[in-house]
Amino acid sequence: MKELTLTKKRQTEDDKSRQQVLIESGHIPEHIAIIMDGNGRWAKSKGSIRLHGHKVGVDSVRDITEACAQLGGTYLTLYAFSTENWGRPTAEVRGLMRLLVSSLRKEADNLHENNIRLVTIGQLERFPEDCIEELTEAIELTEQNTRLQLCLALSYSGRWDITEAVKKIATHVKEGRLDPSLINDQMISDHLSTANVPDPDLIIRTSGEYRISNFLLWQLAYSELYMTERYWPDFRRNDLYQAIASFQKRDRRFGKISISKDENPSNSRLLKN
Ligand code: IPE
Ligand code: IPE
Ligand code: MG
Repeated sequence: MKELTLTKKRQTEDDKSRQQVLIESGHIPEHIAIIMDGNGRWAKSKGSIRLHGHKVGVDSVRDITEACAQLGGTYLTLYAFSTENWGRPTAEVRGLMRLLVSSLRKEADNLHENNIRLVTIGQLERFPEDCIEELTEAIELTEQNTRLQLCLALSYSGRWDITEAVKKIATHVKEGRLDPSLINDQMISDHLSTANVPDPDLIIRTSGEYRISNFLLWQLAYSELYMTERYWPDFRRNDLYQAIASFQKRDRRFGKISISKDENPSNSRLLKN
């Protein structure tokens, strides 16, 4: 396969062998979701303004996206801006929007050349027009790409997602197209913004916080959680590899009982069904 060139750096032999170890030692999570937290504290620790932390955070996004694609992950969902983040000072919100536009301008062609599809979840309509335009262009440009689906959660919250799903389902009932007794787990999943995307296998949160902050509330039912002290701008591929190595040691039982790995090396997949 063609070399990935998102970071414009040649992949080192050392990095290739680290990835190989992970690939050979167990399965790579199909869907990784990340709560990218700690940009402000990172900036403060450097005596800098919060926006500087957000900017360096974009370098982490590029590095992690590239590493994920190289490892053969299929879905990467990044929590970039929550519904609650609208409550931050206007200057910070504006700065984040400008950063989003400039990053998309710089990276859209690059994502496309590397066969990465960009999608979003969240209330995009709340964003300024230039953001929506830039996002729409990048989404359309990369629509047919198949290597990795990079999903940005923008003005997203888990409760918003569930509320929207409930409204859609209630409308079907009201219009007489759905019998309420037929509503089940799968139907709810199918009405969320992540319909057609498997639930995250691994959720990573940076910056030493042990909470979910309204991320994929429904979807995380059986996700493995990995929290790290690293601030997001410092979180790079070697940290991702540690998170994946930890994931590979977990015994995902999905409420059932464990089958020893000797009997069945791919136990977690079988147990899911
Ligand atoms: C995460 O970093 C980025 C966004 C939520 C947009 P923060 O900006 O929350 O940084 P801290 O948590 O204040 O350090
Ligand atoms: C979560 O980080 C949201 C994103 C990473 C986009 P926050 O910084 O907003 O979360 P809290 O306030 O620490 O819970
Ligand atoms: Mg934060």
